[in-house]
Amino acid sequence: MAFQITKAVIPAAGLGTRFLPATKAMPKEMLPVVDKPAIQYVVEEAVAAGLDDVLMITGRNKNALENHFDRIGELEATLEAKGDTERLQKVNFSSDLAEMHYVRQGDPLGLGHAVLRAKMHVGREPFAVLLGDDIIDERDVLLTRMIEEQSKRNANVVALLEVDPAVAHMYGIATVEATETDDVVRITGLVEKPASGTAPSNYAIIGRYVLRPEVFEVLENTEPGKGGEIQLTDALQTMAEDSASGGVFGVVFRGRRYDTGDRLDYIKAIVQLAVERDDLGPELRPWLKAFAGGLD
Ligand code: G1P
Repeated sequence: MAFQITKAVIPAAGLGTRFLPATKAMPKEMLPVVDKPAIQYVVEEAVAAGLDDVLMITGRNKNALENHFDRIGELEATLEAKGDTERLQKVNFSSDLAEMHYVRQGDPLGLGHAVLRAKMHVGREPFAVLLGDDIIDERDVLLTRMIEEQSKRNANVVALLEVDPAVAHMYGIATVEATETDDVVRITGLVEKPASGTAPSNYAIIGRYVLRPEVFEVLENTEPGKGGEIQLTDALQTMAEDSASGGVFGVVFRGRRYDTGDRLDYIKAIVQLAVERDDLGPELRPWLKAFAGGLD
């Protein structure tokens, strides 16, 4: 029986050490990408795909996340008194976006462990996992496509991106076989962050997954892997070998993706998104050209 998928799980418990000291007292998910916190793009993407029940896996220091998606009475009252309806709408938009739930990860034992914390909330339905470091351009379709394939195949589905082999060691990498559908591959093997030069392909997992609930039992039995952490990739490798869990398929994404996971990519993401904006692009583009012209 095909379920209507309504739940999104967003792991957001990482320490954000790559952005210290900015992330000393503030979660990295709250870093602004142009004028919205990175995490809001991800929640908006989930909602746009019909997933308005969002569970965030958080940790210490993450209160700002809850505040961002909650009402802030004083701010609303101040903006209302000023008649600033435009800003009021922006403030209310994030409060009304989704039905938000939070659970803390407790021990930082890896992505697989974080996802396992969603077991009680998700129950026995398929669900999506969205990682906050990846922003998918809202003009390109990915999650909806993955949900379609999950329902059609009753399988586990991950998003794949063909990457430069030089960066394959930074991702979970899939070994794949073609299917009858152009943008869908069957995954026969997965390896988490293979040593440089040893990746079995250049199909990298980007941070979107649509999973069957059996993944929870598999995660419970997954030993710590790369970095001593419980890896979601390792659980998926187990499911790729076990047809009873539906196997694992990849939707190959060919659209625009912005990585906010490290400082350089974060800066690039801001510039790429800002030049496309109607309110900033027209002034930013010529400035950027002139600025770049002055660089060696
Ligand atoms: C995680 C996953 C990895 C995946 C990546 C995508 O790694 O473990 O398999 O390729 O997200 O962004 P992280 O980047 O959180 O270390």
